[in-house]
Amino acid sequence: MENIKKLVGVEAAKFVKDGMIVGLGTGSTAAFFVAELGRRVAEENLQIVGVTTSSVTSEQARRLGIALKNIDDVDAIDLTVDGADEIDLELNGIKGGGAALLMEKIVATYSRDYIWIVDDAKMVTHLGAFPLPVEVVTFGYGQVFRLFEKLGFNPVVRVDVSGEIVVTDMGNHIIDLHLAEIKDPERLANLLDQTVGVVEHGLFNGMVKKVIVGSASEGVKIIT
Ligand code: 5RP
Repeated sequence: MENIKKLVGVEAAKFVKDGMIVGLGTGSTAAFFVAELGRRVAEENLQIVGVTTSSVTSEQARRLGIALKNIDDVDAIDLTVDGADEIDLELNGIKGGGAALLMEKIVATYSRDYIWIVDDAKMVTHLGAFPLPVEVVTFGYGQVFRLFEKLGFNPVVRVDVSGEIVVTDMGNHIIDLHLAEIKDPERLANLLDQTVGVVEHGLFNGMVKKVIVGSASEGVKIIT
C-alpha cells in the first residue's frame, strides 16, 4: 500500500514545474507528493511556493525546505494535489478523513488545477461507505448533532486516540455521518450547506478534473 501511495505521489509531482504556486494536500498519500517535491527542491533546485492545507503538512513542508506562503498572500494557486477517501464514477469525492477538509476545500477552490491521488480501493460506484465528515463550529454542535440524528444520518462526534473530541486546525469539531450510501451527493451537499452551525462538509462534488489512481496490478492510471 505504501508503495502505491508513493507511486501516485511521485506521478503527481511531475505536473509541478518551476515557478508554480502549489497547494499541498493532507494525509498519508499527499505526504508522498510533498516528500517528492521536497526532494526536487533539494536535489534539482525546483523553485516553488507551497500553500498548505493543514498544520501537519505545513510542518512536513518546512522540514523539507519548501517555501510556504499563506493563501491570502498569493494571487492564485496553480495546482493543488491532495488525497481523497472515496471517489465515485462522476469524480465526486469524500474528503476529510484527516480532519483537514475545510482548509482543503478552500485551497482547492482557489486553485487553477486540482488533482487527487488515491489507490484503486477508493474508487467506488456510490459514495457513502466511508463516513462523511462534517466540520461544525463548537457552539451548538450538540444541536447540530441531534438534527443529524433526526434526519437519520447516524452521526458520530469524532474523537482522537485518547478519546478527546477532535479540534480541527480551524478550531472546530468534526461530526462523521454514517450514511452507508449517498444516493444524491448534490442534494446532500445543498442540505449541509444550508445547515446553520456547519462550517463545511467533506463532499467535494465536481471539483476535480483529474485523478491519479494506483493499483498493485496495473500501476498508475490517470482518470479525467
Ligand atoms: C484529509 C483528507 C485526506 O486527503 C484523505 O483522508 C485521504 O487520506 P489518506 O491519503 O491518508 O488515505 O481528506 O482531511
